[in-house]
Amino acid sequence: MTELSEGLAESADALPTIPRGRTSVFALPTGLMDMAAAGPIHRLRYADGHIGWIVTDFDLCRKVLTMPEFSSRPDLRHSAIHEAIGDGQPPEERPGMFVGMDPPEHTHYRRIVAAALRLGEMRQLQASITERARTLFDAGAGERIDLVSEVASPLPALVITELLGVEEAVSHTLADCLERMLSLDSTADEVRRMFNTIFDELGAVVTRRRQDGAPGFIKNMIDDGRLSHDEITSIAFQLYTAGHETTTNMIALSYLYLLENPETAAAISGSDTAVADAMEEFLRFFSIIQYGISRAAVQEVELGGVTIRPGETITISLPAANFDSRRFPDPYRLDVTRRDRGHLAFGFGVHQCVAQQLARVEITVALRVFLERYSGFTLDSYEMKSDTIVHGLTRLLVRRAGTRQA
Ligand code: HEM
Repeated sequence: MTELSEGLAESADALPTIPRGRTSVFALPTGLMDMAAAGPIHRLRYADGHIGWIVTDFDLCRKVLTMPEFSSRPDLRHSAIHEAIGDGQPPEERPGMFVGMDPPEHTHYRRIVAAALRLGEMRQLQASITERARTLFDAGAGERIDLVSEVASPLPALVITELLGVEEAVSHTLADCLERMLSLDSTADEVRRMFNTIFDELGAVVTRRRQDGAPGFIKNMIDDGRLSHDEITSIAFQLYTAGHETTTNMIALSYLYLLENPETAAAISGSDTAVADAMEEFLRFFSIIQYGISRAAVQEVELGGVTIRPGETITISLPAANFDSRRFPDPYRLDVTRRDRGHLAFGFGVHQCVAQQLARVEITVALRVFLERYSGFTLDSYEMKSDTIVHGLTRLLVRRAGTRQA
């Protein structure tokens, strides 16, 4: 037994909970980096009283995410932040929920999904995403526009529903339910209800696609023939739920940063490469999966000088890893010329974001279309999300050129 484990004679109540809350929108969760400075791995008290771990060191985070001794199964993991929501993953088991599976079951589904989301195909989407983004920007005629509700939120929802082959009308119901499912204010019952509603809506879509053969990823999965109705519904569910909040908030925070830093906007405008480099640094710097992801130990592991026992949950702090100064020199400086894609914003290992190329295409397109219009906007006000699984903004109001403050 290690020194750290022996020290646990102290009462569990004295152990830290996950650092939460921020002093400002571009600051990290308060206390997180003090924790990281004190060592690479720490004991952590979870929302239900479970005593687990948190790892804050870049190399150790990557290591945990590649070790078969750690499982993604939601029934084995405790949540550091909310008993009902976990770290944002589905609360119920259904066939095909590969996000919460381990290899080899995970590998089977992951291959089918990854094949459909190849970079080449994602690039072909650029033109249609650009068109959609321009339409969203130019739709409103008012003097002020909320870039969250008018652009950053609808864009990824429209893209993923189109990709899946879900009718646009259904996407509004889904968006509503998803927001409530991911809210830390929701009760366990409400989370479950919203989960089931999204699932039922998507199940009905799968039935309709079977009947009408309308194109999209759902139809492709039906044609593939290897997946059951429920498995196809689950995969559609996971693509929809994992991709919306994340991309929306990356876009919203990037817009805010550029509005507050016109010299950066000027430096990257007009160059696709510079915009792509900036986006990569935004992914690291915003680290929107702010409380990290988690795994459960399925056997005893020696890690970073401590012993982790079977059944213990470990949180992998993606923000702490992305600000580890041994990996990213001068980590608190947002440097759009850093050109480092080694951050952990998309995770690492077998569960690393399966749609990261789609996310990259969406964010770069959203940035390019915004920069085309940049000189026509001034920042009015914004509201930071308070303490949500995915960090971001609830509102980002800009004023159009030629309109005066009331
Ligand atoms: C900037 C936007 C995004 C961020 C920061 C992000 C982040 C992540 C992270 C950290 C993971 C790893 C989870 C884990 O290891 O437990 C992940 C997995 C995943 N993401 Fe993303 N994601 C983004 C966009 C998307 C989009 C657009 C989609 C779908 C259209 C998507 C679908 C998924 C799925 C299905 C998984 C599970 C993969 C697996 O378990 O094999 N994500 N994402």
